[in-house]
Order: sequence, then structure tokens, then C-alpha cells
Amino acid sequence: MEITVVQGDITRQQVDAVVNAANRAMRGGGGVDGAIHAAGGPAVLEDCIARFPRGLATGDAGWTTAGELPARWVIHVVGPNHRAGQTDRTLLTSCYARALEVADELGAATVAFPLVSAGIYGWPKDDAIAAAVETLAAAESAVAEARMVAYDHATYAAIRQSLPTT
Ligand code: AR6
Repeated sequence: MEITVVQGDITRQQVDAVVNAANRAMRGGGGVDGAIHAAGGPAVLEDCIARFPRGLATGDAGWTTAGELPARWVIHVVGPNHRAGQTDRTLLTSCYARALEVADELGAATVAFPLVSAGIYGWPKDDAIAAAVETLAAAESAVAEARMVAYDHATYAAIRQSLPTT
């Protein structure tokens, strides 16, 4: 699996699946979650309600349609809320590992990831990057490209620096 990084908006990525930084209720929110529901349209929320009536556990992943997004699927993950005292790092690495398992179930070859928990949930950015990169690098998956999508240039540069050299 190749790990790549781009700077941009995750809702614009031409990939098979985009990962959403959701919450346990899976009924929308701000940040990436708000952007994905806004761009994907009501079909995303309808599918969340139908497929996840009780939401999703922290650290877990589950898929829905991507509605009007260029991607075919949204893989929702629930990162730990560092700001609220959830500092167990395995809950963060689990989001990436579980997202790849779901991608494999779907047969998704290209998957775009946001920096889970690093926004509203307040996980320190450098460690959020390290957790993402080390988990993706260690994963055994049929996914061909795991694309990290950084919203701003500083995050893009930091992720680039942390990628394994080939
Ligand atoms: N494309 C790419 N990255 C983005 C985008 C975007 N459109 N928007 C924000 N980011 P966050 P969390 C970056 O807050 O910390 C929601 O309310 C952002 O700069 O989206 O896991 C949910 O419903 C940051 O680096 O996710 C939950 O309640 C990263 O994406 C909660 O927020 C993640 O920021 C989840 O918080």
C-alpha cells in the first residue's frame, strides 16, 4: 500500500472511499463531518440512520453511501475526543486499522483519510500524524493508495516529513 499526502478538501477527492471523522451518534457535525454531509447530500445521513441506528463505537469504522461525492463510499470512523479526556491512543490507531478493514470488505482500492481527532477533538497534531502514518505503514491491506488529506499547508508539510522514505 502506498501512502500519499495531498493538501486539499477531502470532499473533492477522486477516490473509491473517503474516511469521515464522525462522532458516535453518526448524525453529522462540524469539520470534516459537516463538509462530507453537506457535499454528499441527504443520502449520507439517511444511510447512517438506516445502517447505524445506534451509531458507532469510538475507534470503530463503518461504511455508507457517499451520495453526491465523487467517491463511492464514506467510511465513518469515530476518533477519541482528546479534549474531553479520551487520551487512549489505541482508539486513534484503531480508526485507521478498522477503516482499512472496511475498505477491504468493500473492495476499495483508493481511500482518502483526514487527520482523525486532530481538529474539534483536539488530539495534538504531531502525534495524530504519527499515529496515522505508523498505523497505515504497518497495515496489511489490499488498498493500493491510502491518501492523507491535509487541509492546510503546515499539516501537509508535517505529514510529508513523517512519511516513510521509499
Ligand atoms: N478536508 C480535509 N480536512 C479537513 C476538512 C476538509 N474539508 N475540514 C477539516 N479538516 P475534525 P475531529 C481537518 O474537527 O477532530 C465533528 O463535529 C481539520 O483541520 O473534522 O475528529 C464530528 O461530528 C483537522 O486537521 O475531526 C465530531 O463531533 C482534521 O481535518 C468531531 O467533529 C480533523 O478535524 C470530530 O472531530
